[in-house]
Amino acid sequence: MERVLSGMQPSGYLHIGNLMGALRNWVRLQEEYECFYFVADWHALTTNYANPSVIRDYTADLLLNFLAAGLDPEKCTIFVQSKVPAHAELHVLLSMITPLGWLERVPTYKEKKEEIRNRDLGTYGFLGYPVLQSADILLYRAKYVPVGIDQVPHLEITREIARRFAFLYKNDALLEPEPLLAEFPKVTGVDGRKMSKSYDNAVYLNDPPEVVEKKILTMVTDTQRMRRTDPGDPERSPVFQLHKVFSSKDELDEVAEGCRKAKIGCIDCKRILIRNLFKVLEPIWTKRREISARPGLLDEVVASGVQKAGRAAAETMGMVKEALGLY
Ligand code: TRP
Repeated sequence: MERVLSGMQPSGYLHIGNLMGALRNWVRLQEEYECFYFVADWHALTTNYANPSVIRDYTADLLLNFLAAGLDPEKCTIFVQSKVPAHAELHVLLSMITPLGWLERVPTYKEKKEEIRNRDLGTYGFLGYPVLQSADILLYRAKYVPVGIDQVPHLEITREIARRFAFLYKNDALLEPEPLLAEFPKVTGVDGRKMSKSYDNAVYLNDPPEVVEKKILTMVTDTQRMRRTDPGDPERSPVFQLHKVFSSKDELDEVAEGCRKAKIGCIDCKRILIRNLFKVLEPIWTKRREISARPGLLDEVVASGVQKAGRAAAETMGMVKEALGLY
Protein backbone atom coordinates (compact mmCIF):
# COMPACT_ATOMS: atom_id res chain seq x y z
CA MET A 1 0.00 0.00 0.00
CA GLU A 2 1.22 3.47 -0.84
CA ARG A 3 1.88 5.82 2.01
CA VAL A 4 -0.04 8.98 2.79
CA LEU A 5 0.95 11.46 5.46
CA SER A 6 -0.62 14.65 6.69
CA GLY A 7 -0.65 16.85 9.75
CA MET A 8 -2.66 19.62 11.35
CA GLN A 9 -1.40 22.37 13.60
CA PRO A 10 -3.04 22.69 17.02
CA SER A 11 -3.44 26.43 16.63
CA GLY A 12 -7.17 26.51 17.38
CA TYR A 13 -10.22 24.30 17.90
CA LEU A 14 -11.31 22.32 14.86
CA HIS A 15 -14.12 23.95 12.87
CA ILE A 16 -16.52 22.73 10.20
CA GLY A 17 -14.28 24.22 7.49
CA ASN A 18 -11.42 21.97 8.60
CA LEU A 19 -13.85 19.06 8.83
CA MET A 20 -15.30 19.38 5.34
CA GLY A 21 -12.02 20.51 3.76
CA ALA A 22 -9.41 18.20 5.24
CA LEU A 23 -10.56 15.72 7.85
CA ARG A 24 -13.29 14.06 5.78
CA ASN A 25 -10.76 13.50 3.03
CA TRP A 26 -8.36 11.92 5.52
CA VAL A 27 -11.13 9.56 6.59
CA ARG A 28 -11.70 8.45 2.99
CA LEU A 29 -7.99 7.95 2.34
CA GLN A 30 -7.52 5.55 5.25
CA GLU A 31 -9.46 2.94 3.26
CA GLU A 32 -7.01 2.93 0.37
CA TYR A 33 -3.61 3.92 1.71
CA GLU A 34 -1.29 3.32 4.59
CA CYS A 35 -1.98 6.61 6.34
CA PHE A 36 -0.04 8.53 8.98
CA TYR A 37 -1.89 11.45 10.53
CA PHE A 38 -0.45 13.64 13.23
CA VAL A 39 -0.87 16.77 15.30
CA ALA A 40 1.95 19.18 14.41
CA ASP A 41 2.44 20.69 17.86
CA TRP A 42 5.98 21.92 17.20
CA HIS A 43 4.67 23.80 14.18
CA ALA A 44 2.12 25.54 16.39
CA LEU A 45 5.02 26.75 18.53
CA THR A 46 6.59 28.60 15.59
CA THR A 47 3.82 31.20 15.69
CA ASN A 48 2.76 30.75 19.30
CA TYR A 49 5.94 30.34 21.28
CA ALA A 50 5.02 33.25 23.55
CA ASN A 51 1.73 31.64 24.57
CA PRO A 52 2.20 27.87 24.43
CA SER A 53 -0.29 26.98 27.17
CA VAL A 54 -3.17 26.72 24.68
CA ILE A 55 -1.44 24.10 22.54
CA ARG A 56 -2.18 21.17 24.81
CA ASP A 57 -5.90 21.88 24.81
CA TYR A 58 -6.02 22.30 21.03
CA THR A 59 -4.04 19.09 20.60
CA ALA A 60 -6.55 17.15 22.69
CA ASP A 61 -9.42 18.70 20.72
CA LEU A 62 -7.84 17.69 17.41
CA LEU A 63 -7.22 14.13 18.53
CA LEU A 64 -10.75 13.80 19.85
CA ASN A 65 -12.16 15.12 16.57
CA PHE A 66 -9.91 12.87 14.48
CA LEU A 67 -11.61 9.88 16.08
CA ALA A 68 -15.08 11.42 16.27
CA ALA A 69 -15.01 12.24 12.56
CA GLY A 70 -14.12 8.67 11.68
CA LEU A 71 -10.38 8.13 11.67
CA ASP A 72 -9.97 4.54 12.80
CA PRO A 73 -6.78 3.69 14.72
CA GLU A 74 -7.07 0.14 13.34
CA LYS A 75 -6.73 1.52 9.82
CA CYS A 76 -4.39 4.48 10.18
CA THR A 77 -1.61 5.69 12.46
CA ILE A 78 -2.53 8.67 14.64
CA PHE A 79 0.16 10.43 16.64
CA VAL A 80 1.59 13.65 18.01
CA GLN A 81 4.70 15.12 16.37
CA SER A 82 6.55 16.00 19.60
CA LYS A 83 6.26 12.40 20.79
CA VAL A 84 8.34 11.15 17.87
CA PRO A 85 11.73 12.86 18.37
CA ALA A 86 12.98 11.61 15.01
CA HIS A 87 11.09 14.55 13.44
CA ALA A 88 13.52 16.88 15.23
CA GLU A 89 16.50 14.71 14.41
CA LEU A 90 15.77 14.68 10.69
CA HIS A 91 14.93 18.38 10.85
CA VAL A 92 18.40 19.24 12.15
CA LEU A 93 20.05 17.18 9.43
CA LEU A 94 17.92 18.70 6.67
CA SER A 95 18.62 22.18 8.03
CA MET A 96 22.28 21.62 7.19
CA ILE A 97 21.58 21.23 3.49
CA THR A 98 18.73 23.71 3.01
CA PRO A 99 19.86 26.99 1.42
CA LEU A 100 18.55 30.08 3.22
CA GLY A 101 17.38 31.54 -0.07
CA TRP A 102 14.87 28.72 -0.55
CA LEU A 103 13.28 29.52 2.80
CA GLU A 104 13.22 33.29 2.34
CA ARG A 105 11.43 32.82 -0.97
CA VAL A 106 8.57 30.64 0.37
CA PRO A 107 5.40 32.69 -0.20
CA THR A 108 3.78 31.70 3.12
CA TYR A 109 6.83 33.07 4.94
CA LYS A 110 6.46 36.55 3.52
CA GLU A 111 2.64 36.53 3.66
CA LYS A 112 2.43 35.39 7.26
CA LYS A 113 5.00 37.96 8.32
CA GLU A 114 2.89 40.65 6.68
CA GLU A 115 -0.39 39.28 8.01
CA ILE A 116 0.43 38.44 11.63
CA ARG A 117 1.46 41.76 13.12
CA ASN A 118 0.60 41.11 16.75
CA ARG A 119 3.12 38.29 17.20
CA ASP A 120 6.84 38.15 16.56
CA LEU A 121 7.76 35.91 13.64
CA GLY A 122 11.38 36.96 13.39
CA THR A 123 12.67 33.66 14.69
CA TYR A 124 14.87 30.92 13.35
CA GLY A 125 12.06 28.41 14.02
CA PHE A 126 9.55 30.29 11.91
CA LEU A 127 11.92 30.62 8.96
CA GLY A 128 12.62 26.91 9.27
CA TYR A 129 8.95 25.94 9.33
CA PRO A 130 9.10 24.32 5.87
CA VAL A 131 12.21 22.35 6.84
CA LEU A 132 10.37 20.88 9.82
CA GLN A 133 7.42 20.09 7.58
CA SER A 134 9.78 18.46 5.10
CA ALA A 135 11.20 16.32 7.90
CA ASP A 136 7.64 15.29 8.87
CA ILE A 137 6.99 14.05 5.37
CA LEU A 138 10.36 12.62 4.36
CA LEU A 139 10.70 10.71 7.63
CA TYR A 140 7.89 8.40 6.50
CA ARG A 141 8.90 8.23 2.84
CA ALA A 142 5.33 9.26 2.10
CA LYS A 143 4.20 9.22 -1.51
CA TYR A 144 1.16 11.47 -1.12
CA VAL A 145 0.41 14.41 1.13
CA PRO A 146 -3.24 15.53 1.23
CA VAL A 147 -3.16 19.29 1.78
CA GLY A 148 -4.86 22.49 0.71
CA ILE A 149 -3.53 24.56 -2.15
CA ASP A 150 -1.85 26.95 0.32
CA GLN A 151 0.57 24.17 1.28
CA VAL A 152 1.84 23.46 -2.22
CA PRO A 153 4.94 25.70 -1.84
CA HIS A 154 5.88 23.70 1.27
CA LEU A 155 5.56 20.47 -0.68
CA GLU A 156 7.71 21.94 -3.42
CA ILE A 157 10.50 22.74 -0.98
CA THR A 158 10.17 19.23 0.46
CA ARG A 159 10.75 17.83 -3.00
CA GLU A 160 13.73 20.13 -3.51
CA ILE A 161 15.27 19.08 -0.21
CA ALA A 162 14.80 15.39 -1.09
CA ARG A 163 16.46 15.97 -4.46
CA ARG A 164 19.35 17.86 -2.89
CA PHE A 165 19.86 15.05 -0.38
CA ALA A 166 19.88 12.47 -3.18
CA PHE A 167 22.33 14.55 -5.21
CA LEU A 168 24.74 15.31 -2.36
CA TYR A 169 24.88 11.82 -0.89
CA LYS A 170 24.00 9.67 -3.92
CA ASN A 171 21.35 8.09 -1.77
CA ASP A 172 17.63 7.49 -2.17
CA ALA A 173 16.54 7.29 1.48
CA LEU A 174 14.25 10.29 0.99
CA LEU A 175 11.37 10.02 -1.48
CA GLU A 176 9.91 12.99 -3.30
CA PRO A 177 6.27 13.30 -2.19
CA GLU A 178 3.36 14.64 -4.21
CA PRO A 179 0.54 16.82 -2.94
CA LEU A 180 -2.90 15.26 -3.07
CA LEU A 181 -5.24 18.10 -3.87
CA ALA A 182 -8.83 16.96 -3.49
CA GLU A 183 -11.78 19.08 -4.56
CA PHE A 184 -12.47 20.68 -1.23
CA PRO A 185 -15.61 22.68 -0.68
CA LYS A 186 -14.78 26.21 0.39
CA VAL A 187 -16.59 26.77 3.64
CA THR A 188 -17.77 30.32 4.23
CA GLY A 189 -17.68 31.76 7.73
CA VAL A 190 -20.72 33.19 9.49
CA ASP A 191 -19.63 36.69 8.39
CA GLY A 192 -19.29 35.81 4.72
CA ARG A 193 -15.48 35.68 4.67
CA LYS A 194 -13.55 32.40 4.45
CA MET A 195 -14.11 30.40 7.63
CA SER A 196 -11.05 30.83 9.81
CA LYS A 197 -10.27 30.78 13.49
CA SER A 198 -8.42 34.06 13.10
CA TYR A 199 -11.55 35.84 11.82
CA ASP A 200 -13.73 34.68 14.72
CA ASN A 201 -16.36 33.50 12.21
CA ALA A 202 -16.17 29.73 12.63
CA VAL A 203 -18.56 27.04 13.78
CA TYR A 204 -16.53 24.70 15.96
CA LEU A 205 -17.02 20.99 16.42
CA ASN A 206 -17.00 21.58 20.15
CA ASP A 207 -19.70 24.27 20.00
CA PRO A 208 -22.82 23.04 21.82
CA PRO A 209 -25.92 22.70 19.59
CA GLU A 210 -27.49 25.89 20.92
CA VAL A 211 -24.33 27.84 20.07
CA VAL A 212 -24.28 26.45 16.53
CA GLU A 213 -27.95 27.39 16.19
CA LYS A 214 -27.33 30.90 17.45
CA LYS A 215 -24.34 31.45 15.20
CA ILE A 216 -26.48 30.60 12.17
CA LEU A 217 -29.58 32.46 13.31
CA THR A 218 -27.63 35.67 13.84
CA MET A 219 -25.91 35.56 10.43
CA VAL A 220 -26.35 38.50 8.10
CA THR A 221 -28.13 37.43 4.89
CA ASP A 222 -28.87 39.44 1.74
CA THR A 223 -28.60 42.93 3.20
CA GLN A 224 -30.53 44.35 0.27
CA ARG A 225 -33.58 42.23 1.09
CA MET A 226 -35.13 44.57 3.65
CA ARG A 227 -38.58 43.04 4.13
CA ARG A 228 -39.76 39.45 4.15
CA THR A 229 -41.87 40.25 1.09
CA ASP A 230 -38.94 41.62 -0.94
CA PRO A 231 -37.38 39.20 -3.39
CA GLY A 232 -33.75 38.42 -2.50
CA ASP A 233 -30.58 37.25 -4.19
CA PRO A 234 -29.27 34.05 -2.59
CA GLU A 235 -25.78 34.67 -3.95
CA ARG A 236 -25.52 37.74 -1.74
CA SER A 237 -26.17 35.66 1.40
CA PRO A 238 -23.44 33.72 3.22
CA VAL A 239 -26.21 31.42 4.48
CA PHE A 240 -26.66 30.23 0.92
CA GLN A 241 -22.92 29.58 0.64
CA LEU A 242 -23.21 27.24 3.61
CA HIS A 243 -26.25 25.55 2.04
CA LYS A 244 -24.00 24.74 -0.90
CA VAL A 245 -21.82 22.66 1.40
CA PHE A 246 -24.39 21.13 3.73
CA SER A 247 -27.69 20.87 1.84
CA SER A 248 -28.89 18.55 -0.91
CA LYS A 249 -29.25 19.75 -4.49
CA ASP A 250 -33.04 19.79 -4.14
CA GLU A 251 -32.99 21.84 -0.97
CA LEU A 252 -30.46 24.19 -2.50
CA ASP A 253 -32.78 24.84 -5.47
CA GLU A 254 -35.71 25.19 -3.11
CA VAL A 255 -34.10 27.85 -0.88
CA ALA A 256 -32.67 29.70 -3.90
CA GLU A 257 -36.06 29.87 -5.57
CA GLY A 258 -37.78 30.66 -2.27
CA CYS A 259 -35.39 33.57 -1.72
CA ARG A 260 -35.65 34.97 -5.26
CA LYS A 261 -39.45 34.86 -5.21
CA ALA A 262 -39.83 35.86 -1.55
CA LYS A 263 -41.59 32.56 -0.85
CA ILE A 264 -39.48 31.87 2.23
CA GLY A 265 -37.94 34.16 4.80
CA CYS A 266 -34.35 34.18 5.95
CA ILE A 267 -35.25 32.46 9.22
CA ASP A 268 -36.91 29.58 7.32
CA CYS A 269 -33.84 29.31 5.15
CA LYS A 270 -31.57 29.26 8.22
CA ARG A 271 -33.71 26.59 9.90
CA ILE A 272 -33.16 24.28 6.94
CA LEU A 273 -29.42 24.93 7.10
CA ILE A 274 -29.34 24.26 10.84
CA ARG A 275 -31.16 20.96 10.32
CA ASN A 276 -28.63 19.85 7.70
CA LEU A 277 -25.67 21.04 9.73
CA PHE A 278 -26.95 19.03 12.68
CA LYS A 279 -27.18 15.94 10.47
CA VAL A 280 -23.42 16.21 9.96
CA LEU A 281 -22.58 17.26 13.50
CA GLU A 282 -24.82 15.01 15.58
CA PRO A 283 -22.94 11.75 14.89
CA ILE A 284 -19.72 13.60 15.71
CA TRP A 285 -21.14 14.97 18.97
CA THR A 286 -22.31 11.49 19.91
CA LYS A 287 -18.88 10.01 19.23
CA ARG A 288 -17.15 12.83 21.09
CA ARG A 289 -19.28 11.99 24.12
CA GLU A 290 -18.56 8.26 23.81
CA ILE A 291 -14.83 8.86 23.57
CA SER A 292 -14.83 11.35 26.44
CA ALA A 293 -16.65 8.79 28.58
CA ARG A 294 -13.69 6.43 28.18
CA PRO A 295 -10.81 8.19 29.93
CA GLY A 296 -7.46 6.97 28.74
CA LEU A 297 -8.70 5.98 25.30
CA LEU A 298 -7.11 8.91 23.49
CA ASP A 299 -3.83 8.35 25.31
CA GLU A 300 -3.87 4.69 24.28
CA VAL A 301 -4.53 5.56 20.65
CA VAL A 302 -1.68 8.06 20.65
CA ALA A 303 0.71 5.71 22.48
CA SER A 304 0.17 2.99 19.92
CA GLY A 305 0.38 5.49 17.04
CA VAL A 306 3.64 6.88 18.40
CA GLN A 307 5.07 3.35 18.47
CA LYS A 308 4.09 2.61 14.90
CA ALA A 309 5.29 6.00 13.68
CA GLY A 310 8.54 5.60 15.63
CA ARG A 311 9.25 2.27 13.94
CA ALA A 312 8.69 3.69 10.46
CA ALA A 313 10.78 6.75 11.35
CA ALA A 314 13.65 4.64 12.69
CA GLU A 315 13.91 2.79 9.39
CA THR A 316 14.35 6.01 7.46
CA MET A 317 16.72 7.50 10.04
CA GLY A 318 18.90 4.40 9.74
CA MET A 319 19.28 5.01 6.02
CA VAL A 320 19.81 8.75 6.46
CA LYS A 321 22.52 8.34 9.07
CA GLU A 322 24.28 5.84 6.94
CA ALA A 323 24.18 8.20 3.96
CA LEU A 324 25.75 10.93 6.09
CA GLY A 325 28.33 8.63 7.62
CA LEU A 326 27.12 9.34 11.12
CA TYR A 327 28.34 7.05 13.84
N1 TRP B 1 1.77 23.21 7.53
C1 TRP B 1 0.57 22.41 7.62
C2 TRP B 1 -0.63 23.35 7.75
O1 TRP B 1 -0.51 24.42 8.29
C3 TRP B 1 0.60 21.45 8.78
C4 TRP B 1 1.67 20.44 8.62
C5 TRP B 1 2.80 20.30 9.37
C6 TRP B 1 1.70 19.41 7.64
N2 TRP B 1 3.54 19.24 8.94
C7 TRP B 1 2.89 18.68 7.88
C8 TRP B 1 0.85 19.05 6.60
C9 TRP B 1 3.26 17.59 7.05
C10 TRP B 1 1.21 17.98 5.78
C11 TRP B 1 2.40 17.28 6.02
O2 TRP B 1 -1.71 22.98 7.36
